[in-house]
Amino acid sequence: MFARSALRSLNQSRQFSSSAARQTKVAVLGAGGGIGQPLSLLLKIDPLVSSLSLYDIRGAPGVAADVSHVDTNSEVRGYPADKLDEALEGVKVVVIPAGVPRKPGMTRDDLFNTNASIVRDLAAAVARVSPEAHVLVISNPVNSTVPIVSAVLEKAGVYDPRRVFGITTLDVVRAARFLGGLTGSDPKDTRVTVVGGHSGATIVPLLSQTENGKSITGEAYEKLVHRIQFGGDEVVKAKDGAGSATLSMAYAGATFTHKLLRGLNGEKGVITPTFVKSPLFADQGIDFFSSNVELGPNGVEKIHPLGQLSASEEKLLAACLPDLKKNIEKGKAFVA
Ligand code: NAD
Ligand code: LMR
Repeated sequence: MFARSALRSLNQSRQFSSSAARQTKVAVLGAGGGIGQPLSLLLKIDPLVSSLSLYDIRGAPGVAADVSHVDTNSEVRGYPADKLDEALEGVKVVVIPAGVPRKPGMTRDDLFNTNASIVRDLAAAVARVSPEAHVLVISNPVNSTVPIVSAVLEKAGVYDPRRVFGITTLDVVRAARFLGGLTGSDPKDTRVTVVGGHSGATIVPLLSQTENGKSITGEAYEKLVHRIQFGGDEVVKAKDGAGSATLSMAYAGATFTHKLLRGLNGEKGVITPTFVKSPLFADQGIDFFSSNVELGPNGVEKIHPLGQLSASEEKLLAACLPDLKKNIEKGKAFVA
């Protein structure tokens, strides 16, 4: 079920891990859900994960029992609703897909009222039990939930901006797949940097920075950008009320987690877009932004600048910034 690139990457890290051999305890909060279940499975077969702690208000012990039979070395334990603190003990990486997904006609921001408090409470538990953990946020709206997690950790006096990430990898995965589909190239050779945030106009693909991407112009370019920005809606519509992307998101979540683990283990040159506390647009009051980030032993090692943008990308960026600013401010105001 694994895509070739994931298998290749896992094989590389098998070789890497045999020399570096530093493995990690990872928790999934929301492990019983549409994303949480396949994500837990993919983390079970990640050789850089030594122990998996699966928590949900519903069904995590069952998912853990099931996943634990997969023939890799890692330990798996499931925790029910009242055992959140136990689930977080000794954990180095916490992945959060807890929360409600969209139905047709909703925006990600429509999820704020429900998901903001879920994420806030989970972040408070991380601050209490595993304050040095790296927190990887999947729950939408990511543009607001990452500022919420950051503000909760800050209030608790344990915030290190190098350790909080919004997972925007699904946008990168989609961009590679959609561009590959148009140009006939293998998505593995079609890496696209996607910057900004994770919703509609805040998703800014930098196609001009990819050899294949440069060749797409005019109407084809407009359509491709729209598809990358609104790929989530395609899935929400097709699922017709049964939720949003789960399988591709689990793949994206496992891919990002694996990259972070490689960085934490000391591998150099692990660079990927992710939504983090960022200086790039802080002078415009936007202090979270997704751009290429080098991951290292402490989490965020280096935030890369955007590089050269085409005139069309400058326009996309101009449309992104005001929306992103509003989303970030909404998250901060919720905690304040
Ligand atoms: P889902 O409803 O299938 O699963 C969510 C799970 O969270 C459920 O099992 C639920 O019991 C659990 N949960 C609810 N409150 C909880 C709490 N307080 N503690 C622990 N667990 C709790 O939803 P899903 O399809 O898995 O989506 C989850 C979230 O991920 C949604 O907000 C969705 O919008 C988001 N998402 C983000 C991306 C991204 O690119 N970042 C992609 C897809 C989906
Ligand atoms: C996605 O991009 O698929 C997710 O953010 C889920 C959604 O609501 O579209």
